Amino acid sequence: MNDGNPDTPMELMKAIVCTQYGPPELLELREVEKPTPKAQEVLIKIHASAVNDYDWSMVRGQPYIYRLMFGIRKPKRPIPGMELAGTVEALGPDVTAFKVGDAVYGDISAYGFGSFAEYICIHENAVKRKPATMSFEEAASIPHASLLALQGLKDIGKIREGQQILINGAGGGVGTFGLQMAKLYNAEVTGVDSGEKLEMMRSLGFDYIIDYKKEDFTKNGRQYDLILDAKTNRSPFAYARALKPIGSYVTVGGHLPRLLQALCLGPLISLFSKKNIRILGLKSNKDLEDVNELFEAQKIKCVIDGPYPLEKTPWAIQYFGEGKHQGKVVITMLQPPGSDPKEEK
Ligand SMILES: NC(=O)c1ccc[n+]([C@@H]2O[C@H](COP(=O)([O-])OP(=O)(O)OC[C@H]3O[C@@H](n4cnc5c(N)ncnc54)[C@H](OP(=O)(O)O)[C@@H]3O)[C@@H](O)[C@H]2O)c1
Repeated sequence: MNDGNPDTPMELMKAIVCTQYGPPELLELREVEKPTPKAQEVLIKIHASAVNDYDWSMVRGQPYIYRLMFGIRKPKRPIPGMELAGTVEALGPDVTAFKVGDAVYGDISAYGFGSFAEYICIHENAVKRKPATMSFEEAASIPHASLLALQGLKDIGKIREGQQILINGAGGGVGTFGLQMAKLYNAEVTGVDSGEKLEMMRSLGFDYIIDYKKEDFTKNGRQYDLILDAKTNRSPFAYARALKPIGSYVTVGGHLPRLLQALCLGPLISLFSKKNIRILGLKSNKDLEDVNELFEAQKIKCVIDGPYPLEKTPWAIQYFGEGKHQGKVVITMLQPPGSDPKEEK
C-alpha cells in the first residue's frame, strides 16, 4: 500500500493479470502493487472469489460486443473477477459503512472488477456485511448467482405456491440456487442440463431431470407455469410453446442473438397471449439480506466446486467455460488449513 512517501518500499500482492484477450491460459499470476483506498473505498483482503460468465467473456473478449464494456483492444481493468468475500483492512477517509476487521462480501461488478487478487480497493457500496455463520468460500459463491435466481423467480417471474417450474441450465450457479428457492414455494421443479450433472441435480432435489443432449424440453409437449433460463439458446416462440396458457418465461442470460429476439419478440407474444417473455437485468446485491436470512435458517446451501487456489484461476475459468463445473467454481486465497495459523477461516 502506498503511503505517499517516496522512500517507503512499494507493497506487493499476488493477482491474476489479463493483458490481452485470448484463451484463459494467457492469464498470468503476477506480483502487482497493492492498492490504496480512495475517499469512499475500502481496502479488502480477499479470502475467496468465484468464477462467472463475465470472467469467461472478459478474458477472451468475446462476444465482441462486451469489449465496449471491458476495453476495445485489451481489458481496461487487467485483473478479472467480480465476486468476493474478505476482510476490511483499511478505510478511505469518507467511508462510513464499515470498520477495519469487518467481514464483507458481494458482487462488485457494478463498481468494477479485480477479485482474482489478494487485495482490492472498491467503493464501500459494492459490498455487504458477511454473516458470521457463512464461510468465506460460501460467501464468495452467493451474491451473483443467488440473486439472479431470486430476482428472476420472485421479482420478474412472480413465483407462486405449488407452481410447475422448469430451470434451464440447472446444474450451474443460478440453477442450484433457483431450485432451492423454488422449493420454498413447494414448487415441482424440472431441471435441464447435461448428463454429467444429473446425479448432483437429483441429490439436490430436482423432481424431474432432462438431459438437454437427449431431449428438447420445448418439443416434448410438457408445459410449465414458470421457466427460469440461464442459457437462452432457443427462439422465444419455442419457450412460449413450453409455457402453460398463463405462464412466464424469465431469462437471466445466454446467447446474445437469442436474448435480443426475446427482447424484441417477447412483447409480441404477450400481446397475442397471456404468456410473458421477460429478461432480467440483475440489480447487484439487491436483497442480499434476504439470501442471508435463507442461508442462516439453513433453507439454502451453496453447491461449491472447489475451492481452487488463486494460481489455478486460468484453469478454473477454462473449466467453467467448458461447462464441466457443478454449482459455483470458487477460488480461495487462504493458505491450506494448518499452514498459516494466523489466518481465520
Ligand atoms: N441478467 C443479468 O443482468 C446478468 C448479469 C450477468 C450474467 N448473467 C448471465 O447469467 C447466467 C449465469 O448463469 P450461471 O452462473 O448459472 O451459469 P453456469 O454456472 O455456467 O450454468 C449454466 C449451466 O447450463 C448448462 N448448459 C449449457 N448448455 C445448455 C443447454 N443448451 N441447455 C441447458 N443447459 C445448458 C451448463 O452445463 P454444460 O455446459 O455442461 O452443458 C451449466 O451447467 C449467464 O447466462 C450469464 O451470462 C446475467
